Amino acid sequence: MTKIFLADAQATHSLGVRLGQSLPAGSVILLEGDLGTGKTTLVQGIGTGLGISDPIVSPTFTLINEYLEGRLPLYHLDLYRLQPEEVESLNLDSYWEGVDVPLGIVAIEWSDRLPYLPVSYLRIYLTYSTEQGRYAQVISSPTQLKLPVKTREQGTGNREQ
Ligand SMILES: Nc1ncnc2c1ncn2[C@@H]1O[C@H](COP(=O)(O)OP(=O)(O)OP(=O)(O)O)[C@@H](O)[C@H]1O
Ligand SMILES: [Mg+2]
Repeated sequence: MTKIFLADAQATHSLGVRLGQSLPAGSVILLEGDLGTGKTTLVQGIGTGLGISDPIVSPTFTLINEYLEGRLPLYHLDLYRLQPEEVESLNLDSYWEGVDVPLGIVAIEWSDRLPYLPVSYLRIYLTYSTEQGRYAQVISSPTQLKLPVKTREQGTGNREQ
């Protein structure tokens, strides 16, 4: 787990820029944190890092906004208004598996609504307290993309090595 202090909105944006510059196609970023903790700001940074000049606006009502002009496509989702049962029927896995859409970066606000997870992801918790200020806690999924299929075929059953 990596804990990063975010002194101001620019720091949140900059963290996003670094992610947008470096993450490979197929990356899924799960964004969690209370209302107003900076999830959209981080995705705006990711957009900048990818070279997207269109303004990145919160998809709270549209659910999914797609930006196709950068280094990789950016799929920005906000599940705030949904229940996990409703999310299930959206087949969001087609975004991170690149089915019917080009593989890109998938950034999901309120990802605790997801009833299923991709094999590989980066989970970012944004926290705020008056005493300590704002932090991002970044946690990688235990399973790496390259492992699962081969491991299952080999019958080790251990997907976390
Ligand atoms: N590290 C920070 N320090 C201070 N202010 C910040 C920081 N990061 C973001 N902000 C500001 O907090 C406000 C809310 O940010 P943002 O809309 O990105 O939050 P959010 O988590 O997406 O909110 P929501 O839960 O409504 O989707 C914005 O005005 C933004 O500029
Ligand atoms: Mg938001």
